[in-house]
Amino acid sequence: MNTTLSDIVSRQPATEPWVEGEKIPWREPEFSRRMLAEHLTQRHDAASRRFDTIDSQVDWIHRELLSGKPSKILDLGCGPGLYISRLARLGHECVGIDISPASIAYANAQADERDLQCSYLLQDMRTADYGSGYGLAMLIFGEFNVFRPSDARAILVKAHAALSPGGVLLLEPHTFDAVREMGEAGAHWYSSDGGLFSDEPYLCLRESFWHPDHAATTERYYVVDAKTGAVSRYASSMQAYTDAEYRALLSECGFGDIRFHSSMGGDVNAHETGLMVVTSRKRKYPALT
Ligand SMILES: C[S@@+](CC[C@H](N)C(=O)[O-])C[C@H]1O[C@@H](n2cnc3c(N)ncnc32)[C@H](O)[C@@H]1O
Repeated sequence: MNTTLSDIVSRQPATEPWVEGEKIPWREPEFSRRMLAEHLTQRHDAASRRFDTIDSQVDWIHRELLSGKPSKILDLGCGPGLYISRLARLGHECVGIDISPASIAYANAQADERDLQCSYLLQDMRTADYGSGYGLAMLIFGEFNVFRPSDARAILVKAHAALSPGGVLLLEPHTFDAVREMGEAGAHWYSSDGGLFSDEPYLCLRESFWHPDHAATTERYYVVDAKTGAVSRYASSMQAYTDAEYRALLSECGFGDIRFHSSMGGDVNAHETGLMVVTSRKRKYPALT
């Protein structure tokens, strides 16, 4: 059933996270084509950071986490491969997994053109086979929180299994306060001549909710086509974790040497203050499930 403007007027508050929708539609071909442009633009850092920031973060990963030595790297939610294409140029063998068809097509084309040691899988990281023998697994730019807690835990367990003993997990989740503030942001809207949600002019009405009992948010997006008034509706949720919860979760999934960093390389960008960096190492005994 299509959403109408009347449905927006008569809407009810969101009561539970993840009930109204899993995520924005990363895997839809047309959405992913428009999202790829957002990843690659050098005008903002909303979908991926700008290239000069990525260059310095890649340098930090290479020097601080991998001691400058060649390794095998897994990038979960790699997008267009902006990190691992650079890491491959530094001598690492890289695997990227993402559900966005346009991003994976772009990443594959770059790898072919530049003859990079990168392979990409167009798959859902919840179900994908990660392979094994990695020195580093990474899941960055806040995507961790968008998974239901059970999926997030299962991803950590699979990453643990894919790492070699002593291998590093690089996680860049949101801080607890950032997720809560997003949930408490209320309703706001913008207009676009054509952008992420459509090539045609549209209004985007956003509304967020904080679920204190779950420490989670729901964000709704009503996208109203400016010519026809047709409404598309999307929703996504995010789980908030305290630092102690991140620490406990990583420990339960078999990681030790857990360290918190304010950013990758100390170069804090004001847009990103809601993110934190957590590194840990695979302990030598099996993860709990
Ligand atoms: C915020 S973007 C970050 C992209 C990249 N890590 C970067 O920083 O440039 C999140 C990425 O996660 C991907 N993603 C979201 N859910 C996913 C899933 N279930 N499996 C694989 N990839 C997923 C999206 O397609 C998107 O490319």
